Order: sequence, then C-alpha cells, then structure tokens
Amino acid sequence: MAKLKNLELNGKSVQGKTAICIGANAGLGFAKCEWLVENNIGRLVMGCRSLDKAEKAKSEIEKKNTGDTEIIIIKIDLSSLESIKSFGDQWSDQDPSCRKCDLLFCNAGLIVPNADMSTTEDNFEMTYQCNALGHLALIEHLLPALSESDDPRIIVTSSNGAKLTDIPNAPSENPRTPLRDVRKYKNYALNSFALYSDSKKLITILCRELQTSLDNHPNVKYRKIFVANYHPGFVKTTISNKEEYKALKVFSVPVNMLVNTFAISAPEGAKTALFLATCSLQGKPRGAFWNEKTQPQSVGKQAEDTKLRRAYWDRCVKDAGVNPESFPLPPL
Ligand SMILES: NC(=O)c1ccc[n+]([C@@H]2O[C@H](COP(=O)([O-])OP(=O)(O)OC[C@H]3O[C@@H](n4cnc5c(N)ncnc54)[C@H](OP(=O)(O)O)[C@@H]3O)[C@@H](O)[C@H]2O)c1
Repeated sequence: MAKLKNLELNGKSVQGKTAICIGANAGLGFAKCEWLVENNIGRLVMGCRSLDKAEKAKSEIEKKNTGDTEIIIIKIDLSSLESIKSFGDQWSDQDPSCRKCDLLFCNAGLIVPNADMSTTEDNFEMTYQCNALGHLALIEHLLPALSESDDPRIIVTSSNGAKLTDIPNAPSENPRTPLRDVRKYKNYALNSFALYSDSKKLITILCRELQTSLDNHPNVKYRKIFVANYHPGFVKTTISNKEEYKALKVFSVPVNMLVNTFAISAPEGAKTALFLATCSLQGKPRGAFWNEKTQPQSVGKQAEDTKLRRAYWDRCVKDAGVNPESFPLPPL
C-alpha cells in the first residue's frame, strides 16, 4: 500500500512570492502549482512545452485561485537550447517590477522508450538534455531574477534512480552525451531506464557544483541562492504513459500495474519539493540530495568524488553553452 507523507508545509511563506515551475502541466509539477495557488502565491509561471496542455492545466489550477495569484504560461522545451533562451529572454524583457523570482522548480523530466525520439534539436541525447543540461542552461538565464529575491531557492526534481547507477568514471567523449548513449533495437530504446538514472545522478552532481559556485560567487547577491534536489517517492503521474512514445506493451503494462498498486498520488509526491521550498533553512545542508522523507542523503561514492563532479560540470557547462563566468568555481 502507498505510504503517505506526514510533512508540515508552511503555506504562509509563499504568499506574495513568485514561483516558476517547469513541467507544470502534469504530474508533480501540476500538483506543486495547485498547492502554491491554494496557498496564495503572488505570481505563478507555468513553464510548459505544450501550450495546449498548459492552457488546460491552467484552467484547472485557476479553480483554486481566490484571486490572489497571477498565473501565466511561458513556453519552454528543454530539448531546445533556443527555446530555453527564449524563455530567459521573455523573462528579462518583462517590466522590472516582475523580474524577481523567489522559487524555481526545475521539475520537468522524462524517460524516452522510443529510440527514434532520442536526439534533441541540439543533437544531444534526449534524456541527458532534458533531465540535466537544459536545467543548467535555464538556471543561468534566471540567476539575475533569483538574486533579486530575499530567499531564493532552486528545487530540482531528481530521483532515487541516481542511487541505482554508476555513470562513467570520466565523461564520455561522445558529443551526444557524457553518459551512456541509447541502445536501440528497431525503434525501441532498450536502456531507457538506465539513461534516466544516469541523467538523475548527473543532475544531483550538478546541483552540488552549482551550490559551491553560488556560495563563492563574486556577486554577493548570488550567495543567497539555496539549491536542493530530491526524490519525490514512487508517484502516479503521466511519466510512464506518454502516447507519443508508442511504448511497447511489455514496458507500459507492467509499469502501469506497479504504479496503480504502489505509487503515491502527485499531491503527496509534491510535498517533498514544497517542504524544501518553504522550510526554514537554518542548519540545512546546501546543494544536497533529499529523500522523499526530506532527509539529506548521499547518492553514492561518485557524487562524493570532487574531480569527477568537476569533470562532469565542465562538460555540461560547455554543452549547454553556458558562460563559465556565470558560475565561477574555486580551483580543486
Ligand atoms: N513519477 C515518479 O515516480 C518520479 C520518481 C522520481 C522522480 N520523478 C521526476 O519527477 C519529475 C516530474 O515527473 P512526473 O512524474 O510528474 O512526470 P509527468 O507527469 O510526465 O510530468 C513531467 C512534466 O515535465 C514536462 N516535460 C517533459 N519533457 C519536457 C521538455 N523537454 N521540456 C519541457 N517540459 C518537459 C512534461 O510535459 P508533457 O506533459 O508535455 O510531457 C510534464 O509537464 C521528473 O523530473 C521525473 O523524473 C518522478
């Protein structure tokens, strides 16, 4: 039976704030947005790749709005660095009074069982770009907005999958991905879950380096930014159920059976992120991975290896086209 989380959330702390949630139209992202609106957040920005899905989700979320929240949609597709830049440009082109961001939920993520859909517009492996690289690129665009907040937080959705895998001990020289690449049989991606787990280990590593960079940043306003990544639990969402992937029944039937039997609901799964977004940060580790019960945890030896972390960080900064000066790091 699914276990429910017994977490106290401080709803008052979001009143009047601005949150951006990427992957807001479904699953955990949708549940976070609903909670934020129910708790009278000032401004909610739903970052979604499909405007149709986003509009439908927004009209559902509006039902919870007492009038205190302005809800807007901005299109973003993490599989395109151009789309990420366009999101960043739209953000900076707003009236200066709207440019502050208090909470950034880097929530979007995917598993791609269809090998024909494993390459992005930028010629990277899809899981690598959408679950790791794209978030890093977006964060660079939003740093000035976050630095305007008194209590800025970046909450990234990782996964316990990060604990189940070892990534290569040095980034691969494959230009598509520093991780393992897709293994195909016809149009099936045989190792889609392994690629997913690798991407989650990578984002956990990137969060550690990101926090180190921000904590030592020459711009003191950036040193306020708190970074956390977390596992939400095993949650019933749409992640394993995307029509467009035309997943094999041998993949989708058992996964859906497991989900229907053991998974918790999306509002339950979202609580870990909402806790990290609203709790007091006193005494809390920065840049850490948190389990679904909000305990900080290690995801294994590789994540503790400073050289390995730095090598992956450098590769991702290069692939994302991020200016290394945006994220200076102390020498090893
Ligand atoms: N469900 C679980 O048990 C579980 C466990 C551990 C971690 N997670 C993580 O939780 C996060 C949320 O997933 P979920 O379970 O809520 O799945 P979901 O229902 O599929 O929601 C994922 C959201 O991300 C969006 N998205 C996917 N690819 C994107 C892209 N290229 N650009 C922009 N948005 C994109 C999806 O948009 P579309 O609706 O258009 O696809 C959707 O809005 C993911 O990072 C996932 O890895 C989930």
